[in-house]
Amino acid sequence: MSKKDVVETTEAQIAVHWKEEDYYYPSSKFVGQANLSDPDIFERFSLDNFPDYYTEFAELLTWYKYWDEVLDTSDAPCYKWFKGGLINASYNCIDRHLKDNKNKTAIHFVPEPESEKVEHITYQELYVRVNEMAALLRDTAKLKRGDRVTIHMPMSAELPITMLACARLGVIHSVVFGGFSASASADRIVDSQSRVLIVTDAYYRSGTLLDHKINADEAVKIAKDQGQTVDTVLVWQRYPEKYSSDTPLVEGRDIVVNQELSKYYGVRVEPEKMLSEDPLFLMYTSGTTGKPKGCQHGTGGYLAYVTAMSKYIQDIHPEDVYWCMADIGWITGHSFIVYGPLALCASSVIYEGVPTYPDAGRSWRIAQELDVNIFHTAPTAIRALRKIGPDEPAKYNYHFKHMTTVGEPIEPEVWKWYESAVGKGEAIIVDTWWQTETGGFLCSTVPGIKPMKPGSAGPGVPGIHPFILDDEGKEITEAGIAGNICIRNPWPGQFQTIWGDRDRFVKTYFADICRNPDSKDWQDWPYLAGDAAMMAEDGYFRILGRIDDVINVSGHRLGTKEIESASLVVQEVAEAAVVPVAHDIKGKEPDLYIALRPGVEPTEEIARKISDAVCDQIGKIAKPRKVWLVPDMPKTRSGKIMRRVLGAISNKTDVGNVMTLANPEVVEEIRVMVQD
Ligand code: PRX
Repeated sequence: MSKKDVVETTEAQIAVHWKEEDYYYPSSKFVGQANLSDPDIFERFSLDNFPDYYTEFAELLTWYKYWDEVLDTSDAPCYKWFKGGLINASYNCIDRHLKDNKNKTAIHFVPEPESEKVEHITYQELYVRVNEMAALLRDTAKLKRGDRVTIHMPMSAELPITMLACARLGVIHSVVFGGFSASASADRIVDSQSRVLIVTDAYYRSGTLLDHKINADEAVKIAKDQGQTVDTVLVWQRYPEKYSSDTPLVEGRDIVVNQELSKYYGVRVEPEKMLSEDPLFLMYTSGTTGKPKGCQHGTGGYLAYVTAMSKYIQDIHPEDVYWCMADIGWITGHSFIVYGPLALCASSVIYEGVPTYPDAGRSWRIAQELDVNIFHTAPTAIRALRKIGPDEPAKYNYHFKHMTTVGEPIEPEVWKWYESAVGKGEAIIVDTWWQTETGGFLCSTVPGIKPMKPGSAGPGVPGIHPFILDDEGKEITEAGIAGNICIRNPWPGQFQTIWGDRDRFVKTYFADICRNPDSKDWQDWPYLAGDAAMMAEDGYFRILGRIDDVINVSGHRLGTKEIESASLVVQEVAEAAVVPVAHDIKGKEPDLYIALRPGVEPTEEIARKISDAVCDQIGKIAKPRKVWLVPDMPKTRSGKIMRRVLGAISNKTDVGNVMTLANPEVVEEIRVMVQD
């Protein structure tokens, strides 16, 4: 982390977007029905009462046995929440609702083709299907408590069914975003040591049925080369009656789930009584080095936290129809499509396709048909919907009481369109700031208590105590000054460690600001989020962006090092540098600068090869805006590539004084190439 980076991010972003805005107040109709409208919560959740206040969250769940200790800090900063408690996540998301709500819809699955019927899965049906899948995982795939399994599936009802079946058995799932490549899937298989891979054979994206099975074969091959054998691939068929993937099944390894399930019709699997601190899942995310980090989330703490956030910040009531547009392959989908809403017995919508396909009215038709009243999406989708169909929402008869924005800073103009056009002036908005690592929200307004402020996430949610540090580690208490946002206290949704790499966990998130590395006291271990932020007079936090080498593309985190490493597999490449470029829909896009090996002539074909290599190894989401084949990289005298200079060129801002560089002349050459 460097002060310069923070300040530059801050100044650039303030200049572009941020003005102090007016407050927006929730309607009395909303406040009257809100799950949380008593401001005393902030008093109750003050640090004086830490960690006991979190028992209020844990009590939202059904436990086989209550905990012996709320928080065990003996291995700080690896914490155990609700230690000694026994619980099962699948039981909490399904079984406990059957007595009163078995005929209620748990999941509405909306296929991308509008001609396909929407699937409405009741809690009873979910129970049956999860039990049968759990039996298959146990008896066919020989999975047991503590094993890891990699799931590379797109959006479908079968994805949460598979996750909940894993949770029933105590198998740790690691879901890989469906749009990621075989190579990204292989990296996660190897790191998590999965011997079972679960995939779907095909899925729809913008009107095309994509063959996905092919990725499984390649992922297994790559994983094997890296020493991890996958002995079983479970293949869900997307359209068992009318389509089968062209990619053949591998004898002795591949099993078609839809067929195999017939062996388990009617079988029930007792949920495993898991220790609260047992891991529930891994979710890989990008960091400052090429290797993605497997964020390990626990069972009791995580589930308590996401259930409470769904109830108090998302304001989900059991009668609500809730639609979160995120992909389940990211943390938002895990916490706020699957675990949180289902633990509260809500009806959760899963949509297979892109929100703007086949036209800008699709999302609003879904909302109208399913009577969605809580809507959750990201600025990138809001910008896209606003750009191509600003007047579309008014054409449809739906009414949202509550809307969420998450994943990146939202510009006040875009926020206002979201409020007036999408929300029709009737919905409250929460801007929730959080991360894969944090399991659930860190900053947001409590919608029934605090007013909204466009462009600001808000104060810490009840129980979270954020503060800002400067680069010397000194707290900034003054309003309006940017620094590194940190959290003073642990919380139950916080990840437990990086899978298999405790040292990296401590080093990345705690070591820089730890007050005493030998301490077992949580107060000595504040959490460093990796974002720049500033606090306003009213205690609201405005998030300014990442301070590490991460680019936020459409709300998804991509490591610059991951993209650079991917391009370096192309033989002709000598050096690579990635910088973020502003994009009006995606927020940011990667621009890739390449210096070729001596003697290699730059050609369009090489540039295409490099771009393809990035897509192959990571996924299309990482596709560079442009591959610039430059004569040399601008470098310091010590040989460090000046990414900041390249970033200024890509974004057409001032490159500053470059005369101290080892090769200042190259800056102008690159500028002409990129800007003219
Ligand atoms: O930079 C912050 C940004 O997204 C990062 C976390 O990304 P990820 O782990 O993929 O999780 C995304 C879903 C929570 C953060 O470090 N970010 C997230 N929410 C916001 C945000 N930036 C501004 N405002 C937000 N509401």
